[in-house]
Amino acid sequence: MTTPALADLDGVEGARVLTRLDLNVPIDDGRVQDDTRIVAAIPTLNWLGERASVIAACSHLGKAKGSPDPAYSLAPVAPVLAEALGRPVRFVDDCLDPGIADAEPGTLLLLENLRFYPGEKANDEAFAARLTASFSHYVNDAFGTAHRDHASVSAAPRRFGRGKKAAGFLMAAEVSALSRLVRDPEQPFVAVVGGAKISTKTAPLEALLDRVRTLLIGGGMANTFLKALGHEIGRSLVEDEMLSTARDVMDTAADRSIDVLIPTDVVVTDAIDAPSIVEVVAADAIPPDLMVVDLGPESHQRFAAAIGGARTVFWNGPMGVFEIEAFSRGTMAIATAMADCPGFTVVGGGESVLAIRRAGVVDRIDHVSTGGGASLAFLTGDELPALAALEE
Ligand code: 3PG
Ligand code: MG
Repeated sequence: MTTPALADLDGVEGARVLTRLDLNVPIDDGRVQDDTRIVAAIPTLNWLGERASVIAACSHLGKAKGSPDPAYSLAPVAPVLAEALGRPVRFVDDCLDPGIADAEPGTLLLLENLRFYPGEKANDEAFAARLTASFSHYVNDAFGTAHRDHASVSAAPRRFGRGKKAAGFLMAAEVSALSRLVRDPEQPFVAVVGGAKISTKTAPLEALLDRVRTLLIGGGMANTFLKALGHEIGRSLVEDEMLSTARDVMDTAADRSIDVLIPTDVVVTDAIDAPSIVEVVAADAIPPDLMVVDLGPESHQRFAAAIGGARTVFWNGPMGVFEIEAFSRGTMAIATAMADCPGFTVVGGGESVLAIRRAGVVDRIDHVSTGGGASLAFLTGDELPALAALEE
């Protein structure tokens, strides 16, 4: 079954609509640091704004533990949202405030963090019932949370019948772009996977081996591949319990004639925060007292060449400690290669998205996903609880 769209809603004119957004944005010192997810929600809110009577937006923020915690308040999001929408937003400091039922027509509410109640993560029926009590319609545009089986995306939409619930524009765009990577991707399909750990990406890696022609491995997880090949990796980050997984990935790839590119040269240092040594060495000659922090130039040229020849590319996870300028070249080279690639390009995951923003190439990527875990779950072929609940 396909996911119902906004156009499938019945009787939305003058209705009271609860919309679940992913407004889980970085906040520092009471200020929103990156408004990507807020801006991404605007088309759906504008569409509803032209039709509905009352709109309430709800979201989680951070790792709140089931009770109110000012460090995770959504309050700083309200002015940013109001500015982006060009209309007032009334912040409600409790997502179950009984006063929500009395909101005047024409009001747009932003409700406080759902995770201030334990019922959200527990997918609790009673919490979902209270959250949805004063609404006739439900819209989910929180793609970044689609892989969570939480009340606001699972139990809540199950309380609405057909024609009364839908995916918003962002959710639909994410599903359509990511579907191109799952269903018959145009070949050659190249996946670039980085980040610190294999352990959080084992299932996506295995799923990608069903579809890609080439797999590029960088970041901390590449050290585990290097070690699995018998190389010394010095003091580098490594997951010893994942060595057999790394070997399995390489064996499966070899059986299927998939190229796996791992670094042939790397940048090493003695200390990430205060380096006195920064040098490029061959991947089979890493000094015992140093650690790998980036791809070397030969490696990022090989990776960029593979991306340049691709018809489809998916990238998740940085190639090194890219927060530090001296260790960011590999990650920046991937960002540039993605931008230059004539094929269909998709980037998912907070750090990779940050890297393409830093590189100034966001506009040259075909799809920048607002979901990290959600995009990996989608690529793995997992059923996303949020989509299942809308389709029921
Ligand atoms: C994210 O930022 O990955 C999403 O908002 C989901 O957040 P979570 O990982 O805290 O569930
Ligand atoms: Mg996350």
